[in-house]
Amino acid sequence: MGSTLQILPEQASSVAGQVDALYFFLIGISAFFSLLIAGLVIFFAVKYRRRSESEPAPEPATGGTALEIVWSVIPLGITMVIFFWGASIFFTINRPPDDATEIHVVAKQWMWKLQHLEGQREINELHIPLGRAVRLKMTSEDVIHSFYVPAFRTKQDVLPGRYTQTWFKPIKAGKYHLFCAEYCGTNHSGMIGWIHVMDPTEYQAWLSGGAGEGTLASRGDKLFQDLACTNCHKNDGSGRGHSLEGLFGKTIEIEGGQKITVDDDYLRESILSPQAKIVAGYQPIMPTFQGLVTEDQLLQLIEYIKSTGKKGEKPAAKPAGRKEAR
Ligand code: CUA
Repeated sequence: MGSTLQILPEQASSVAGQVDALYFFLIGISAFFSLLIAGLVIFFAVKYRRRSESEPAPEPATGGTALEIVWSVIPLGITMVIFFWGASIFFTINRPPDDATEIHVVAKQWMWKLQHLEGQREINELHIPLGRAVRLKMTSEDVIHSFYVPAFRTKQDVLPGRYTQTWFKPIKAGKYHLFCAEYCGTNHSGMIGWIHVMDPTEYQAWLSGGAGEGTLASRGDKLFQDLACTNCHKNDGSGRGHSLEGLFGKTIEIEGGQKITVDDDYLRESILSPQAKIVAGYQPIMPTFQGLVTEDQLLQLIEYIKSTGKKGEKPAAKPAGRKEAR
């Protein structure tokens, strides 16, 4: 933010340096070859110009195997370097570390709604701790938006009807721009916000400052009762619907014999389009909640379902060897 001309935004995340290094490599390679080719064209045009009308035309050149191999192999080598370098950064950017803190993002025309698992809600502002990886689970209430933080070198589209994710690990405390990077209507340019990277202790203080509404999971629990989900989804498995306790992350069999893992997207689909994938052995009697629950409430319900398995802290079920009775 000084008076010096800044070519790139600050490097405020763990991947920013890597992204910039590749970027400068690409610029460097492009500049080197552009100058080399332009220079040689001019040099040869001057050197081999026709000096007089009487000068005979030169012999036309024919192939040169050695030369052709050289100009094929060198570019191949360079593009492979670019490919593997780029792919490795891409993998890093797309794989959040296991210990990342999850934060939920719901985009809508024209604002960012951010929700911490502990209960804090924010609009167009996101407070995160310094040095801790943060994973964003994102969805949209209307059209496509894109979560863009230049200082973190991160940009991820946010789509209606499904979850996308991105992650970053801030390495510098401060305040950074958040933009929407996908044209989403009249006020697209106003869909901006701030990321506040705080010292971890300040962050803890901030976090405990206003979680009056309870955690996401506890609000989901309440909603689960309010919507009367408990009438069918009984935890002891005696209900007409599948028990949801400890269901998250498990592999289940659905009608037709296919096996699927229960994840965010499956739970989301099962709440909005219950008939899409029925658990084997159950009747397709669940009504849809499309239009009855908001994106925020969906997140709460999913967090609640995730939390049910953790309560008892039972050791994981027996691995392999025995088939679960259905
Ligand atoms: Cu949201 Cu552009």
